[in-house]
Order: sequence, then C-alpha cells, then structure tokens
Amino acid sequence: MSTFWSIWISVIVLGTIFGCWWLLWATRKSQTTDTETEKTTGHSFDGIEEYDNPLPKWWFYLFIATCVFSLGYLALYPGLGNWQGLLGWSQEKQWEEEMQQAEARYNEIYAQFGDVPIPELAQNEEANEMGQRLFANNCAVCHGSAARGSIGFPNLTDDAWLHGGDPETIVQTIQGGRQGNMPAKGMMPNMTSEQVDQVVNYVLSFSGREQDAAAAEAGEEVFSQACASCHGADGKGNYAFGAPNLTDDTWLYGSTYDWIEETVLYGRQNEMPAQGGRLSEDKIHILAAYVYSLSND
Ligand code: HEC
Ligand code: HEC
Repeated sequence: MSTFWSIWISVIVLGTIFGCWWLLWATRKSQTTDTETEKTTGHSFDGIEEYDNPLPKWWFYLFIATCVFSLGYLALYPGLGNWQGLLGWSQEKQWEEEMQQAEARYNEIYAQFGDVPIPELAQNEEANEMGQRLFANNCAVCHGSAARGSIGFPNLTDDAWLHGGDPETIVQTIQGGRQGNMPAKGMMPNMTSEQVDQVVNYVLSFSGREQDAAAAEAGEEVFSQACASCHGADGKGNYAFGAPNLTDDTWLYGSTYDWIEETVLYGRQNEMPAQGGRLSEDKIHILAAYVYSLSND
C-alpha cells in the first residue's frame, strides 16, 4: 500500500475513534448530574417532550472500554494502513504455522507406511482411505474422482497403461510427471491424405472395424514406416514412449475414424505434471499404492 493510502486509512480510522470519544465527553458535560432526571431538551412535539437524562453509567463505561480496546487492538494487530502491529501477526503466518503443525502430525502417520512395499500397502484399507483422500485433493481434477479419467486423461482403474503399471513406474510417473508427445503424421511429415486414410483404416482393422479393407491393407506399409517405431510393429504400444496400445478397446481419445484421423493429422501433446516438488515422498508412496490397488484386486 502506498504511503498516501496508508495515511488516509489511518487518519480515517483514528479520526473515527477519537470522534466518538469526543462526542461522548462533549454530550456528557452538558448534563449536570445523574439525579436530575426531570430536565428536558426543550423539544416538544404534539405535547410530547424529550427528557435530557445522562447516559447510564454502565453504558458510558462500556463505550469507553470499546474505544480503549480498539486502540489497543490497532496497536497490536495490523489495521492502520501499513502498520504491521506489535505482535507481528499476519494471516499468512498463522496459516503457515497451522499447516506446519498439521504436516508434522500427518507426516508421522504417512511415514509409518513409507517402508511397506506398494503391493502390500495396496491391500491395507487404512492406507487406501488415505490414498483416496490424497487423490481427491491432488489428482481428481484431471483423472476424475473415481480415477476413470476422460478424454486425454487416462483411466487409472483399467489394465491399459501408457507408461506402465508396475509399482516403481507408477511412483516415477507421479514423482516426475510424464509427457505424451505424438508428432503429427508420426515419422512421415509429408504423408499424403490418401496415406492418412490408409493408416487410419489400418489402425481400425486392429479391432476389426476398418471401413475400407483395401485401404487398410495398404495402410500396413504406412504404419510400419510412420508409426511402428513408437507404437510397435504390432501396434501394441511402447511404455518407453508412452505410446498407447492401439489394438485394445481402451482409448485415451476417441476410437472412431474421425478421432483417429485427427490424432494422425495433428498429433497429440499431453502432460501429467510432476508432483515431486508438491507432495512428500511418503504421500507419493501412499498415492502410488492407491493407484496400484485400483487395477489390482
Ligand atoms: C493437470 C492434470 C493432472 C493431474 C493434476 C494429475 N494427472 Fe496424472 N496424468 C495426467 C495426464 C494428462 C496423463 C497422461 C500423460 C500422457 O499422455 O502420457 C497422466 C498420467 C498419469 C499416470 C500414468 C497412466 C498410464 O497409463 O501410464 C498415472 C499413474 C497418473 N497420471 C497418476 C496421477 C496421480 C496419482 C495424480 C495426483 C497426485 C495425478 N496423476 C495428477 C494429468 C494429470
Ligand atoms: C514419436 C512416437 C510416435 C509416433 C511416431 C506415432 N505415435 Fe501415435 N502416439 C504417441 C504417443 C506418445 C501417444 C499418446 C499421446 C498422449 O499421451 O496424449 C500417441 C497416441 C496415438 C493415438 C491415440 C490412441 C488413443 O488411445 O486414443 C493414435 C490413434 C495414434 N497415436 C496413432 C498413431 C499413428 C497412426 C501413427 C503413425 C502415423 C502414430 N501414432 C505415430 C506416439 C507416437
């Protein structure tokens, strides 16, 4: 806050408090004694007059106490423009302290699972409940609350994996994140539209859905040149590139001709953000066990 606004706020706040104070004293002085209750203000309307009684004492002192309290409060806590308060209190600091206390408390609970191997931990109900909560807070925005994913976000409850579903790989994925990069037209940047049609038909033929058998046959050649280096000669995918299996009925994007054509024409860029800097190792361990449990009963 600039100095001008800091002073502006301080003057208004202090002015209001001292203004109230002054008003209280000024009006009190005009009243002579507490017992003189018959005095009127002199106003009269329709024969109704207004008494000029002093304020009740308890009310008067309560008001004074309020003023004193507010001044004390403003001295101790931030409230007057840039003044930070004598106690050095701030919302962020309080929040950080509370977070630290919570971390210290929960880290102990998380740590007790740190040494349990993931397949074993995946059987542990308590750990899975924790994993589910961590998942809801950190992963569900992308993978869905039931971890079933959506277009572009993999389903974590099935057996199909882009990068691999063994415990170490899952930990690596969560810790370091993943990139899914499929270049447009694969390894054939100058692919003709006829070849695109052929290779799309060929991909569809893996699941017996080709639209044009002749094109699909011709597509095999295109596939081996443009696609096989990542998706494998048999189209079954490759964890090393995060290239999906194209022969199963699990799809990261759509499975129709149009979806596959779009993937071939424009490629796909996808990213799973690394969690290593955000989540402790123990939390990642518990999350990995939870993810592992979703596809391994
Ligand atoms: C910003 C969105 C986003 C968030 C948040 C996110 N993910 Fe992902 N995740 C993705 C995407 C996108 C992919 C696919 C990456 C690719 O295409 O290779 C992915 C991939 C994965 C995979 C690999 C799946 C496979 O088939 O190999 C796992 C496991 C995973 N995420 C777990 C998690 C966990 C656990 C969390 C929470 C700590 C999390 N993700 C948070 C977007 C996200
Ligand atoms: C450089 C490696 C690479 C090459 C070459 C490549 N792809 Fe891919 N492909 C990928 C990756 C990685 C993904 C996953 C993208 C993601 O994570 O979003 C993918 C995704 C796909 C998908 C989407 C699958 C789904 O489940 O929705 C299709 C279809 C596909 N590729 C077909 C092809 C075809 C056809 C070719 C050849 C013309 C090809 N790819 C060439 C790496 C490659």
